[in-house]
Amino acid sequence: MNDEYRLRMEAQDLTKEPPTDEPDRQYYFMKKCRGIVKKKSEELGRPLTCSLTSFGCQMNARDSEKLAGILKQSGYVLTEDENADFVIYNTCTVRDNANQRVYGRLGVLNGLKKKNPHMKIALCGCMMQEGAVIDKIRKSYRFVDLIFGTHNIFKFPELLCTMFESDSMIIDIWEDTNQIVEDLPVERKYLFKSGINIMFGCNNFCSYCIVPYVRGRERSRSPKDIIREAERLAKDGVVEVMLLGQNVNSYGRNLEESVSFAELLREVEKIDGLERIRFMTSHPKDLSDGLIEVMKESKKICRHLHLPLQSGSTRILQAMNRRYTKEQYVDLALKIRREIPDMAITTDIIVGFPGETMADVEETIDVVRQVKFENAFTFLYSKRTGTPAAAMENQVPEETAKEGFARLLRVVQDTARERAALLQGQVLPALAEEVNGQDDSLLTGRLSNNTIVHFPGDRSLIGRIVDVRLEECHGFYYTGHTV
Ligand code: SAH
Ligand code: SF4
Ligand code: F3S
Repeated sequence: MNDEYRLRMEAQDLTKEPPTDEPDRQYYFMKKCRGIVKKKSEELGRPLTCSLTSFGCQMNARDSEKLAGILKQSGYVLTEDENADFVIYNTCTVRDNANQRVYGRLGVLNGLKKKNPHMKIALCGCMMQEGAVIDKIRKSYRFVDLIFGTHNIFKFPELLCTMFESDSMIIDIWEDTNQIVEDLPVERKYLFKSGINIMFGCNNFCSYCIVPYVRGRERSRSPKDIIREAERLAKDGVVEVMLLGQNVNSYGRNLEESVSFAELLREVEKIDGLERIRFMTSHPKDLSDGLIEVMKESKKICRHLHLPLQSGSTRILQAMNRRYTKEQYVDLALKIRREIPDMAITTDIIVGFPGETMADVEETIDVVRQVKFENAFTFLYSKRTGTPAAAMENQVPEETAKEGFARLLRVVQDTARERAALLQGQVLPALAEEVNGQDDSLLTGRLSNNTIVHFPGDRSLIGRIVDVRLEECHGFYYTGHTV
């Protein structure tokens, strides 16, 4: 695929004005950047390096792969080392600790930049869609060179050129967009697996959540574009795709010819070469029987469903604007357990939402006991300015929230262990993903149900699906051997 991007870029004529159509306009600026980067690297007598860090969710990571594709075509060499010629932070603002990490690391970058005057610093992603953040960076982090948001990420080549031509901070933030620009370069982190955006934005406005404000309204990509991307990935050696959206179950609602998520899955299933299909995230209120049916019949859809609960108290769920009750959630989860017994169900839970009492936390714990999630990501409520929950009067003191959190966590861990132990002794297919970080005689693989297993194996197996006997359960992961 790299050759294709390269040819498209080289076909641009820099003696002419930039094209007005996308993505050609961006290929024009990519070529221009390439010239600038080449000149600078000749002056320095070494290649220019770039370090790119993602702070957020799978969608944020996928955006980083798009940025990496553009950087590579522009002539940068990507590096893990932050002492680079260009440092980019793709930020997240879903909870305040994500923001604090960015500010902390910016302080360190300032020190590095003082020693390397060539260094450029760019910030993008969800945090940049907040006015207060931009004001703070303008005032206290004046050494940042470029800031852009989530809606104009496709414009990165053009923004890069502007950055090179200017000495002052470039800021380009859009309020919203209905534009989806296809066919820009992508540099995947893994050769054998990839995310695919199927929709952008969110219309649900859960009362605690900032995502709808920083990612804009829900927009689905056309099924044709999604299938084309999946087919190309399969040809390029990808065996596993993850379909990405904030609420994949409402996929297709804004398209001219309405297509449901279940229908889209059936189409992706037909693609030769793809062996595994995952998706993230499912909102419980929109999970249809049609989808359960497709998952049940499919040979490729993985046995893992991420189904965020957020709270087990109907009262709190209502205040969160989740639009389901405790009973509806439990019924749905147990129906899935019944229909597809080997399906792992994982979840997200927030503790400390305004007005939450210990009795509400007990309701949540009760759901965990009934459903027995394979894994649950538990978060302390974080107040996000501009969301309805931030203006609620009955904010919960941190101490109370922490107490509820600790109680919940114990039950989550016990039930998850119980579920994990059920796999003991089974032989199951695992996708070998990487060499184990601690012991390089081992490979780390992932089962269809998202459980991790470590087993002895040669790195030539990476990207392949192999049968592994699950011998020893270590709480949440297994060790075993290929058979
Ligand atoms: N669209 C997905 C969630 C995306 S955000 C969904 O609806 O499931 C990922 C998770 O972050 C959420 O599921 C929620 O549990 C958590 N989260 C979102 N806003 C939060 C906040 N203000 N405080 C704490 N956790 C939050
Ligand atoms: Fe946030 Fe709710 Fe949208 Fe998920 S569905 S991104 S939690 S508003
Ligand atoms: Fe964070 Fe934005 Fe994802 S706020 S969780 S990076 S959509």
